[in-house]
Amino acid sequence: MKANQSMATIILMSMLSLGGIQSQGINTERKPCKMEDCFDFDRCSSSKKVYIHPMEKIFEVAPQSAIYSKILKYFQESEHYTNNPNEACIFLLGIDTTDRDVRSQNYVKNVNEYIDSLDPAVWNNGRNHLIFNFYHGTFPDYDDHNLGFDTGEAMIARASSSENNFFKGFDVSLPLFHENHPDDVEPKVKIDDQRNESRRKYLVSFKGKRYVYGIGSGTRNLVHHLHNGDDMVMVTTCKHNNDWQVYQDDRCQRDNDEYDQWDYEDLLTNSTFCLVPRGRRLGSFRFLETLRSGCIPVVISDSWILPFTETIDWSSAAIVVAERDALSIPELLMSMSRRKVEKLRDSARDVYDGYLRSIKVISNHVLTIISKRIDDHSGNLEK
Ligand SMILES: *[C@@H]1O[C@H](CO)[C@@H](O)[C@H](O)[C@H]1NC(C)=O
Ligand SMILES: *[C@@H]1O[C@H](CO)[C@@H](O)[C@H](O)[C@H]1NC(C)=O
Repeated sequence: MKANQSMATIILMSMLSLGGIQSQGINTERKPCKMEDCFDFDRCSSSKKVYIHPMEKIFEVAPQSAIYSKILKYFQESEHYTNNPNEACIFLLGIDTTDRDVRSQNYVKNVNEYIDSLDPAVWNNGRNHLIFNFYHGTFPDYDDHNLGFDTGEAMIARASSSENNFFKGFDVSLPLFHENHPDDVEPKVKIDDQRNESRRKYLVSFKGKRYVYGIGSGTRNLVHHLHNGDDMVMVTTCKHNNDWQVYQDDRCQRDNDEYDQWDYEDLLTNSTFCLVPRGRRLGSFRFLETLRSGCIPVVISDSWILPFTETIDWSSAAIVVAERDALSIPELLMSMSRRKVEKLRDSARDVYDGYLRSIKVISNHVLTIISKRIDDHSGNLEK
């Protein structure tokens, strides 16, 4: 009897939640996908060309972020580009899906209409499509269950991938990067190493916003306990959005003053380790900024899927600490041998140079990951 009741509750609850989705007009819940089920390998047997759906006139009013323009430009100029959908293996949308925060200026409203306007045979319910996304959801809960449009069976390349929204081996986890991240740049030759790297001024640092309330505030609220103003510098500001004063707590004034006394670049370039706590979402710009400065990231962002985990072994290039263990970070870092620190720093630099140093390199690596899956698949068939 009890089991039946709870079964009935589950059914009722799932009916309610389905109703909730349908009341928004479109069913945007994703069907779980693996390459074997949702990707048409036959399209890729002779080449791995990339096709970009055009933007028809009616959609041209939609904003296009500088980042998405740069990503599309890279693919358009690459040797993989084709303007013939019939010979394409991978498809991209011309409309910008990178920012799905309805409050953001780069939010694009009519993505569903855009998709409906595509040739259904080419859209093919999203098969072999790659959808880019950097921001999902909005205040207060930053819901990551859907992007507000029907992605069908498309792969999603996203910056705040988590255990909850990411299909392993199918989606691609991306780093978050600024629109002024280098378009293209040569890897750094290791001249920096001649500087005496074994002693950076600060062991570990963090300079950033503190959320006084809401999702993501937990970790950033406690890093001040690690501040010693000497080799551990943790400074936060409460100043963000226009309404911060309404919510400020009794630490804010002191914190804001201390914050102003430290230089972000100095901390990044002169720290051995840099904290990368989650923000409102799991991924942050800081991760790439940290690596770019030769600082070893200490990631505090539970269930975040690090960028390109499919190809990068982050265990040799970053430290990942559970949010509940954040206060034990000094102990952890101080107990590390100099040799271990040097190895981490070398790997971190190699990873940055190899996969993350420019928009071109990042875009290209997304394609490399999918290509590799295709090659592995055909390799398996031959066996
Ligand atoms: C780097 O610093 C360490 C520790 O202070 C010192 O032993 C070493 O000689 C220095 N190396 C160079 C190249 O200056
Ligand atoms: C790093 O520290 C050195 C030595 O204190 C200083 O000269 C340099 O300006 C600092 N780097 C930055 C980017 O501030």
